[in-house]
Amino acid sequence: MHQMAHYQGTHRPSRHLTRRSFLAAGAGLAATSLSACPGASDAETAAPRPDLTRPTSLDDAAWAHVRAQFILEPGTAYMNNASLGMPPASVAEAVAAGYDALSREPLRGKTELGRTIAGRVVPGLASLFGAEPAEIVLTRNATEALHMGAVGVRLQPGDEVLMTTQEHPAGSRPWDYRATHHGVKVRKVFIPSPFETAEEVVQLVEEAFTPATRVIAFCHVTRGGHLYPVQQLCALARERGVISHVDGAQAVGMFPVDLHDLGCDTYSASLHKWMLGPMGTGVFYVRAGARGRVDSAFAFDATSDAPAYQPPGTTGLPVQAALSASLDFIETVGIDNVAARTRRLSDYLKARLAEMPGVTLLSGPTPATSCPGSTIFELEGVDAVEAVTLIAERAGIHIDEHQRDGHNAIRISTHVYNTTAEIDRVTEALDRLRSTPS
Ligand SMILES: Cc1ncc(COP(=O)(O)O)c(C=O)c1O
Repeated sequence: MHQMAHYQGTHRPSRHLTRRSFLAAGAGLAATSLSACPGASDAETAAPRPDLTRPTSLDDAAWAHVRAQFILEPGTAYMNNASLGMPPASVAEAVAAGYDALSREPLRGKTELGRTIAGRVVPGLASLFGAEPAEIVLTRNATEALHMGAVGVRLQPGDEVLMTTQEHPAGSRPWDYRATHHGVKVRKVFIPSPFETAEEVVQLVEEAFTPATRVIAFCHVTRGGHLYPVQQLCALARERGVISHVDGAQAVGMFPVDLHDLGCDTYSASLHKWMLGPMGTGVFYVRAGARGRVDSAFAFDATSDAPAYQPPGTTGLPVQAALSASLDFIETVGIDNVAARTRRLSDYLKARLAEMPGVTLLSGPTPATSCPGSTIFELEGVDAVEAVTLIAERAGIHIDEHQRDGHNAIRISTHVYNTTAEIDRVTEALDRLRSTPS
């Protein structure tokens, strides 16, 4: 069973399955959906995918074989990874193969997929994120995990939760829920966008603590790409006996994350963004030492020894098991290498934007304040939401807006699959848009 290789716990990246070999393997269901996809005939005639290896420099040429792992339609450039990552072909194939296995022999398929999740996916994620397997559970996304954390923290009416003005609704709404239903007080600390230094953020949060503060909730990386000093903020919380609840949706998969080192109590992340996992995957972490203060959102009979954080019921096993292919991909390329390459690309983008009249760059000024992959900026006279549509229509380039934090900003998020040529293309398209906005 060629296409089941991912489910045996191997770290080896999968070989390319052409449409023909997929059909030969009898994957009828997947083949039907593949043939319905535009570009399926391109895939049939395309050259075999090269082996994935760790690139040895940061230049485009050294990443060409990485780019070749993706099946994006020719002519389209995808720079909206912060919204939804574009999985490599191996991940799409692993999802299809998982459903295929379930359809052929449901009982065996379920057992094999469950084995992959328990034996490869959870330990692999724990190892990548510097945690113990027992400290993490899989979720459908970061939003679900953030909610599980927020409703799980033991709080009394009048207890205070500090969050920042830069939270994503996925991070703030669960606390609004607790305010409405449980009398918890939510206070928002204003953080400027961009901020100049990490110390500025630490100081603003430190000054906002009161004797009633029980939780601080903040992003590792905000939706707009601002990088927070997580370790220092968690240390502030720990010194005061306060729970630290971190939103890592925009962090994991973009650069190395070591949860024990960060010292947070809970951490929630999407795996379908920078980890390039299949859509509908996320993770929830509770530090083992924090189990006595964070209840399961579901199980009435959970204990600190058996915390039962796992969302109950039937889950998308093929989707979760296909995270093994995302792990293979990230491990082979190297997470440090992913960070360096994405930083190289966004530095290049920033340099191109700096040459363009009418651009105000809104990303943090240093690597300590801005993440490697996302860049935000305003373009004089251009509405960001309209710009996103026009750039897609006119140039076939997918970007996003960031009309938050007081900005009318455009967000460009670049992952390892992007190239400097695509960045030239988007900056040229933006320049044309500036001169002919409608
Ligand atoms: C900072 C942040 N937190 C949470 C989320 C929600 O992620 P998901 O849709 O995977 O739940 C997002 C999504 O863009 C985000 O940017």
